[in-house]
Amino acid sequence: MLIFAVSDKGGTGRSVTSSNVLYRSALQGADVCYLDFDFGSPTSGAIFNIESAVHGTTRGGLHSYLDGALIEPTRFDVWSESDRTSLRNRPPGAGQLVLLPGDSGGGEFPTTRERIERCSRLFLRLEEEFDLSLIDLSAGRSYATEMVLAATAMPELRSVRSRWLVFHRWTRQHVLAASGLVYGPRGILDTGVRNGHNYEDLVETLRFVRTAVVDPDSPELEGLRPAQVAWLRECNRDLLELASNNRVGRTMLIGSVPLDPVLQWREQLISDNDVWARRIANRETVEAFDTLAKRIVDDSAWETL
Ligand SMILES: Nc1ncnc2c1ncn2[C@@H]1O[C@H](COP(=O)(O)OP(=O)(O)OP(=O)(O)O)[C@@H](O)[C@H]1O
Ligand SMILES: [Mg+2]
Repeated sequence: MLIFAVSDKGGTGRSVTSSNVLYRSALQGADVCYLDFDFGSPTSGAIFNIESAVHGTTRGGLHSYLDGALIEPTRFDVWSESDRTSLRNRPPGAGQLVLLPGDSGGGEFPTTRERIERCSRLFLRLEEEFDLSLIDLSAGRSYATEMVLAATAMPELRSVRSRWLVFHRWTRQHVLAASGLVYGPRGILDTGVRNGHNYEDLVETLRFVRTAVVDPDSPELEGLRPAQVAWLRECNRDLLELASNNRVGRTMLIGSVPLDPVLQWREQLISDNDVWARRIANRETVEAFDTLAKRIVDDSAWETL
């Protein structure tokens, strides 16, 4: 299965949430790989603590592959190549966890027929090898998004299951932006249809994920003044209404991740050790990642209500 991670705004939590969800899928036993298609800023190596790929790889990454300079993009096996001790060594029962970074110094590039074909060949090969391939796309209406929509519309990829996760923060501006990215002009549906997808089929493969959400009823907010809590509740109600009026509401929601102190300060994978032994990350955050990992492959979570 191919999972495409998008957001309209930058800095929404798209990369950190997707990496953590994929890490949870691997811990649950799936063979997974992460493709950094954020071509203008290929920094996903940082989240997996792979020092030599923090700004993309110099060994030939996805840029070189899509440009036709390589037959295979360089892969990093996170379990053996991460510089973080708690990530090294594959835990018993865990599946593969592989990162395909972009090139160091690589940038955005326009979509060409050759690149679309190389992209579709890569997706087909990964589909043979992995249960889940997650493609982290650039923010907004990007060339990368257009390229994957064109690739997945090709007859060779029609039988491969694709799902789209649209990430947004729980604010007025982000809700409207996420809605625009999906339903608006030159958005995912519009671009998808122009590239050969069927509108209704594509809508069914799209769901929204709310990131860094503050729950007004959480015990952590007990330190707030009553006026602040009342205001948060009111905001939350307004946002629920706004989301539902813009087709970003409950029926289109696949997950919601709470604001976590660790992620607020560092882009990283949250290990069980961070939650249970060091007690620096919240259990609810990891539970949200775990649930999302299960829901993205659970067909009943994708049935139209
Ligand atoms: N649940 C969360 N709680 C607190 N902070 C979070 C949470 N999720 C992500 N963040 C933080 O938000 C910031 C942006 O996240 P991230 O880099 O994943 O966003 P992005 O959408 O991939 O951004 P870009 O468009 O720059 O690639 C990071 O500092 C990250 O650690
Ligand atoms: Mg990112």
